[in-house]
Amino acid sequence: MAKSLNLNTDVDDKTFDKKSALEWIATIEGEGASVREQDIYPLLNKWIWDNDITDVVDIGSGQGVCSSKIPVDTVYTGVEPSEFLLGRAKLHYPDANFLRGSAYELPLPSSSVTGAFSIAVWHLLSDSERAAHELSRVLKPGGHYFIVTADPQHPAWKQTPDHIFLRSETELNAVWFKHRLKTTRMGAFRSFWYFEGRKV
Ligand SMILES: C[S@@+](CC[C@H](N)C(=O)[O-])C[C@H]1O[C@@H](n2cnc3c(N)ncnc32)[C@H](O)[C@@H]1O
Repeated sequence: MAKSLNLNTDVDDKTFDKKSALEWIATIEGEGASVREQDIYPLLNKWIWDNDITDVVDIGSGQGVCSSKIPVDTVYTGVEPSEFLLGRAKLHYPDANFLRGSAYELPLPSSSVTGAFSIAVWHLLSDSERAAHELSRVLKPGGHYFIVTADPQHPAWKQTPDHIFLRSETELNAVWFKHRLKTTRMGAFRSFWYFEGRKV
């Protein structure tokens, strides 16, 4: 039987505490976040359009901003472990669907979505194997994923705290491939790189 999830101890947001959540809100709701309009959101929309994706799960949706940056006819579900950020998401984006959960235990049925994306979350995950298993489980066969995570070669990550997990391209792809997730395209911007792929 699958291990049940303890949201108090079993998610990496024990390091993404209220202080981190407040800092994240200040970052994402401040002017500095406008840079995302030039890179993250165009890539996210291109991924949706290129692959005819009709419905998505946003893993680690934070304060919910991505729900407002995708085509309006895309069915959106945000999954977020932090009660605090979830509350903020529901306040700012009342028409979007947000659920409490973790990358390690997505509150969605198996083979239920055509697209899954996760932005600036994967490098916070200590157990990428468990997250890959969940990502693969919820995707329909042939479903698509889009992951933005820390590019370990970028100088911005030279001095990282212990809760940032920098993984090489080989490590990331090996874990995904084990869970039938095959990268089809990748690229880099600022201190991040992104991976697009399919469940095979
Ligand atoms: C840097 S923020 C990014 C938020 C959002 N993806 C965005 O780009 O606007 C990192 C997010 O990862 C979430 N997070 C941390 N551990 C997680 C886990 N185990 N499962 C899912 N999300 C997690 C945090 O609570 C936080 O919302």
